[in-house]
Amino acid sequence: MKFLVTGGAGFIGGNFILEMVRTHPEDTYVNLDKLTYAGSLETLKEVEGRPNYRFVKGDICDRDLVEQLFAEEHFDAVINFAAETHVDRSIEDPHLFLKTNIIGVQVLMDACRKYGIGRYHQVSTDEVYGDLPLDRPDLLFREDTPLHASSPYSASKASADLLVLAYHRTYGLPVTISRCSNNYGPYQFPEKLIPLMIIRALHDESLPVYGKGQNVRDWLYVTDHCEAIDLVVRKGRDGEIYNIGGHNEKSNLEVVRTILAQLHKPESLIHFVKDRPGHDLRYAMDPGKIERELGWRPKHAFAEGIQETVRWYLTHEDWWQNIISGAYQTYYERMYKDRT
Ligand code: NAD
Ligand code: TYD
Repeated sequence: MKFLVTGGAGFIGGNFILEMVRTHPEDTYVNLDKLTYAGSLETLKEVEGRPNYRFVKGDICDRDLVEQLFAEEHFDAVINFAAETHVDRSIEDPHLFLKTNIIGVQVLMDACRKYGIGRYHQVSTDEVYGDLPLDRPDLLFREDTPLHASSPYSASKASADLLVLAYHRTYGLPVTISRCSNNYGPYQFPEKLIPLMIIRALHDESLPVYGKGQNVRDWLYVTDHCEAIDLVVRKGRDGEIYNIGGHNEKSNLEVVRTILAQLHKPESLIHFVKDRPGHDLRYAMDPGKIERELGWRPKHAFAEGIQETVRWYLTHEDWWQNIISGAYQTYYERMYKDRT
């Protein structure tokens, strides 16, 4: 099969390509990525030059480029990872989120209609469901939980999901959607909680925990997510949504304390800062459907996955050192100066 993978230079798309190009030499993967601040070709060094892999620099909103690529490559399936993904940036400036996360999806699906496709897969998020209360551990997001997005980021992802389902119903486009909980693991950009805290703790810098650190996220190791997406793309039913999660609910404070303990750093580094506006309280997934229908099971428990992740950042300083110099410095100052 020939896959178009968009956003393959980012965190999850990068892990997906590294895994799939190596384990599926019979398939070809074309990676279309704009290389925004969040994309890095360093992540993909190990697969560069492989006969079943090609990188194309470009924007999913660029209709001419996307159509030309479809005409050249005759894809069997599209897996759309490309997105603006950081909630805090979406609060600062929503515009690009709406453009990439909604219009980009329209451009890709229009090309699928024009050139024909076996499957369009949209990589979505649990954030489209809004949040759950902290005091109701019995409540979990299911595929039929109503959409109730809180941030411009999650609203853009929810909009895209609605558009994907509309293209299925109106035009018969063969689509699937997967909605996953928070990912962690190698190659995650250090604006997100876990890599940010690891790198700042390593430098003995203060760790900015929003509010009281009580918000809960349901953490999944990135390669477990990649395997789930591969299963959905190959075996999922057209028009269906699959929730992905590993039952690893942790408060932010628990996560930060675990990282500090592993690095033998003191808890005095924790610094409670002004909360995120509209901050979702709790995310928790019911992954029963993908487990029953497709036999998916996560391989990593949080305790072991977080150890592997910390170890990875300790041994891959070359990957993140480039990132935290230059533009990243101004980002940190801009985003955190008013929180203290
Ligand atoms: P990321 O921010 O690390 O990477 C996004 C990638 O998309 C980057 O390589 C970037 O260059 C590329 N990109 C951005 N705009 C583009 C455009 N217009 N055209 C082409 N490429 C573009 O994101 P991630 O964490 O790897 O997330 C990937 C997908 O998974 C997203 O759709 C996100 O909504 C979803 N998701 C993420 C998580 C998580 O915890 N990170 C959880 C659930 C779902
Ligand atoms: P993040 O990694 O941005 O993912 P998301 O908002 O998509 O869940 O944040 C995870 C949680 O960590 C979220 O509740 C916000 C919190 N957080 C902090 O407390 N401090 C920080 O500096 C960051 C980036 C996040």
